[in-house]
Amino acid sequence: MVSIIICYASFSGNTKEVAELIAQTLADLGHDAVLHRINRNTPPPDLTPYDMIMMGTFTWGKGVTPAIMKNFVADVGYKPEKIAVFGTGDTQFGGDDLFCRAVDRLAVFYESPYTVLKIEQSPRGGQEEKVRKWTKEVLQIDELINESKSAGTSKSE
Ligand SMILES: Cc1cc2nc3c(=O)[nH]c(=O)nc-3n(C[C@H](O)[C@H](O)[C@H](O)COP(=O)(O)O)c2cc1C
Repeated sequence: MVSIIICYASFSGNTKEVAELIAQTLADLGHDAVLHRINRNTPPPDLTPYDMIMMGTFTWGKGVTPAIMKNFVADVGYKPEKIAVFGTGDTQFGGDDLFCRAVDRLAVFYESPYTVLKIEQSPRGGQEEKVRKWTKEVLQIDELINESKSAGTSKSE
């Protein structure tokens, strides 16, 4: 069982829907998932007890990371090792180039070893499977990372 916290920023609810679907998928697979909606007035939760952190964001302006997300990242104050990034956007705001740009920026910032998930607006009506598939993929990548780490440890022993 993997213990995961899903921290997400959502203005109009699309990223919240994705976060909730990820949490449901993780629970269905027998994992322990905690949801945290990022809020301007609440300090970030302690991220250290979790095996993995999932971070979700929407994109603002012209490919900009929203201030609420930037502040959260600053408040966390360090770069946890295992962060998987997802988010929602809308290709009407600048096409493929700017689509979910904040997701790419966060993944680069945290040097995320996982693939990113980008959803066009709400996941409802056809993109649910994409969310479930990504969640499973992240868990598989995580297993590989853990395996290669323990192989490295036993070699040096
Ligand atoms: C003013 C404004 C600017 C936006 N700029 C972008 C953008 O550059 N790239 C993008 O992918 N989506 C952009 N969007 C779309 C939002 O990211 C998208 O609607 C997202 O799903 C909102 O997430 P939320 O419902 O969780 O708040 C923009 C939306 C607004 C209102």
